[in-house]
Amino acid sequence: MRRVLVGLASGALVAAIVVAAGCASLATPEAPSTATPATSGTAAPQASQQVKDGAALYVQFSCVRCHGADGAGGIPNRLNVGGDDTIPPLNNALRDKTEAFTNAAQITQILMEGSVVSSKPGVINMPSWKGVMSDAQASAIAAYVLAGFPHVGPAVDFNVAKASDIYSAYACIICHGQVGANASPSPAPNPASADKVVPLLRNAGDNVSAAEMLGFIMNGSVTAPGKKGELLMPAWGQILSTQQVKAVLPYIQDGPKGGKLPPPPAPSPLASPAAAAPAAPSPAGSP
Ligand code: HEC
Ligand code: HEC
Repeated sequence: MRRVLVGLASGALVAAIVVAAGCASLATPEAPSTATPATSGTAAPQASQQVKDGAALYVQFSCVRCHGADGAGGIPNRLNVGGDDTIPPLNNALRDKTEAFTNAAQITQILMEGSVVSSKPGVINMPSWKGVMSDAQASAIAAYVLAGFPHVGPAVDFNVAKASDIYSAYACIICHGQVGANASPSPAPNPASADKVVPLLRNAGDNVSAAEMLGFIMNGSVTAPGKKGELLMPAWGQILSTQQVKAVLPYIQDGPKGGKLPPPPAPSPLASPAAAAPAAPSPAGSP
């Protein structure tokens, strides 16, 4: 049984895209998914545990940051000139009928392989989660997508302000591990890459300048042409706000200065499957 979003304001979605198209500067994202659907409070009790887990994982793995609440898509990908200038919706209610997801494998495959639309700096690509996402987690996310994004996940704050919270909410921690040497979790393996591992951040032994780090955060990094299943650094320039970039940059500082920072707090449980509050995206929060 597939639950379809009730009363989704697709007009609002179109409006959001139009507004977004008018703004050309980086790092001032329009609120992802301002298409606030009617909250259907009845969805929660009927969803299976797998779908509930999927809803939480959709937030934990930062899918919500790029594909929006309720999988509404529409977040600008302005630098993808000649290709899609927005990130696709995942919600079948918003997808072209001919492109509707009909089985889990269509979703789990892209979760493991990723999809590089362009290796041009700043273009947002679909990351591969191979080695950081278990098959069970991928299946749970697929079940949640196929169930039509019922409101059974944790609330989502699109204006996360604290560096350590940004680091969790945007899944930096999933790929890079906790900041600093010997922190747990450790950086994810990346066997298909030259380095074989995702770089450690706040690495005292590697003096990457703040300017260079800023470039990675804004523009991402894809080893052209982008191997399937290689973890890539997503471009966050159109996803994170200027304030969020400014907050997270000193937090991940490399070199001797980074080595002197106080230890990071335990990662906040932003996406515990137990939390069943309906997703409540905050309204347009552009600075
Ligand atoms: C950094 C931004 C970003 C993140 C994070 C992200 N995606 Fe994507 N995703 C994209 C982009 C961009 C595309 C379009 C790729 C293309 O056109 O080939 C995409 C494509 C997809 C597709 C294929 C859509 C289609 O129309 O065929 C699926 C499914 C998908 N993503 C699921 C997810 C899930 C689930 C997560 C969380 C685990 C996730 N994505 C996280 C940016 C992102
Ligand atoms: C899907 C996995 C993934 C996620 C999520 C991710 N990164 Fe990365 N990041 C990478 C990979 C892989 C590289 C290495 C890229 C390369 O060498 O070309 C990288 C490189 C970097 C670098 C350059 C580090 C160096 O020593 O060269 C910085 C800085 C960085 N990421 C910050 C972040 C921040 C901040 C976030 C969260 C907002 C984040 N990353 C989220 C995979 C990821």
